[in-house]
Amino acid sequence: MCGIVGYTGMQEAAPILLDGLKKLEYRGYDSAGIAVMKDEVICVSKASGRIANLCEKTEDGKAVPGCTGIGHTRWATHGAPTDTNAHPHMSNDGKFVVVHNGIIENYVTLREELIAKGYRFDSQTDTEVIVHLLEMYYDGNLKRTVIKASSRLQGSYALGVVCTDEPGKVIAAREYSPLIIGVGIGENYFASDVTALVSYTRNIIYLEDGEFAEITKDDVNVFDGTGHTINKKINRITWDIQAAEKGGYEHFMLKEIMEQPGAVKATITPRIKDGDIVLDDMDISEEYLKGINKIIITACGSAYYAGCAGKYAIESLCRIPVQTELASELRYSNPIIDEHTMLIVLSQSGETADTIAAMKECKARGAKLMAIVNVVGSTIAKLADYTIYTWAGPEIAVATTKGYTTQVAVLDLVALYIAKKLGRIDEAEFNRLLDEVQRLPKAIQDALDMNPNISSLAKKYHKAKALFFIGRNTDYAVALEGALKMKEISYIHAESYAAGELKHGTIALIEDHQPVISLCCNKSILEKTMSNIVEVKARGAEVLAVTVKDNQKIVSLADDVIYVPETETIFSAAVEIVPLQMLAYYVAKENGCDIDKPKNLAKSVTVE
Ligand code: G6P
Repeated sequence: MCGIVGYTGMQEAAPILLDGLKKLEYRGYDSAGIAVMKDEVICVSKASGRIANLCEKTEDGKAVPGCTGIGHTRWATHGAPTDTNAHPHMSNDGKFVVVHNGIIENYVTLREELIAKGYRFDSQTDTEVIVHLLEMYYDGNLKRTVIKASSRLQGSYALGVVCTDEPGKVIAAREYSPLIIGVGIGENYFASDVTALVSYTRNIIYLEDGEFAEITKDDVNVFDGTGHTINKKINRITWDIQAAEKGGYEHFMLKEIMEQPGAVKATITPRIKDGDIVLDDMDISEEYLKGINKIIITACGSAYYAGCAGKYAIESLCRIPVQTELASELRYSNPIIDEHTMLIVLSQSGETADTIAAMKECKARGAKLMAIVNVVGSTIAKLADYTIYTWAGPEIAVATTKGYTTQVAVLDLVALYIAKKLGRIDEAEFNRLLDEVQRLPKAIQDALDMNPNISSLAKKYHKAKALFFIGRNTDYAVALEGALKMKEISYIHAESYAAGELKHGTIALIEDHQPVISLCCNKSILEKTMSNIVEVKARGAEVLAVTVKDNQKIVSLADDVIYVPETETIFSAAVEIVPLQMLAYYVAKENGCDIDKPKNLAKSVTVE
């Protein structure tokens, strides 16, 4: 959701900015723009729609020469995705140009104040107040002026600023929106995330909230709101650019689906040492765990559904009540939380605004926070008391796949870890279940290999107006994520229902040829789900069942069957979801959808 990038050095800035913006495309956007400074002139170019439009307009950057610049991909919030509303925005005197990710919550008041003082607004954006504040407060010193203007802003921002009086310099500022600095030789950068910069430099400084950076080609000076320098560590990125490229696959989503066995293995393996679970350098004391009387799992989107799957593993092994809460609801729910509550937060990006807000709310009420996050150094990772990285590697497709499965795998490990620490599981059972967790990567690979016919099933189902996903217990958790995957990339109305709830309303929607996707992997409740299949079939539904290999009864009931390998029920979500990801992918492909960048969606939702 909105991406920003900045460069200053000895090379032409525009091609680097355009390339960086392309790498940030996955975050979601509907317009883009760049500003490049040459001597004391700043040239701005913006275009609604895809970055290709901006490349065309700028002749791949050749039309905007200069070695210092900033760029932006905008995901519209305040004002339509037009050329005028696209960033960068320029001050009335042409001195300042700004790119911004985030939301300025007090922009209406600021706008009125600035209009009263005679400033002209060209766009409908909240961002535009920032350039006019800079012009208003300018005292000949860019650094001081940015600090002063920022002190008037409420809300969230990652900012990039250039000023004609200080050529060769960019200023970056961060408050509740992601921002990193890339350190090169004779050139330096900033960006919303590492993917934009990794082909240029692997040396990264993570900015914290309230920090600013003054960046020239030879120097990066990080300072706080009083102007004092802060010494920052330079971190080395270890993953390769290939990890963020398609590698021969038609879409990132397909590549990331295929990467799941490796990603889950990379997540699990380092945490198992000498037959025990070692959760990084985390030492959660037995005493603390004994005092927990409730676990709340919170997240948004697929991460929330990963939490719904993990709930079964934790409750069944640890016998601690687990409540799953959408972060956007939890933050405003006046939650009943104290020091006996453990909050588990899941996030691929580590930057989801609602999840961050829910964490802060719960922390203030005394909960300890465990975060399961993919992006190293992200806000959520840093806010938590205990952070476990999923090691899924960069995930580019907006619809998460390996992000979800690795989150589920970590929750499985956490469940076993807590159960053992609390003595709620005997050694033999612990060892058996640990083996089961270690079998997950192979089972995911088998789930991929066993289903070469999913693309033909997609040809059958892609014209459906609606798809219903049903299941009970662990199968229900998977149905939730399966339906979300389908709707977000294929735009087909897809809903999930606890199979037992069907007859309380939804069955009224079942008519001839209505596809129903039935999750039938949980053996303990299989007979019950099968009766639900019979009920929908009696009303004309066509049933596609997902089940384990030896389940002949389902084969005779359902119209189509997808098989998955049998796994321990409480850990099965990471395997059972795989064919549903594939089905969503192929249905979206049949429908000609923009699979990696579905309309209206953003990868990293950094606003409320
Ligand atoms: C967006 C993405 C989803 C993701 C959700 C939560 O909606 O499109 O794929 O599940 O945000 O994101 P997070 O980064 O916190 O996991």
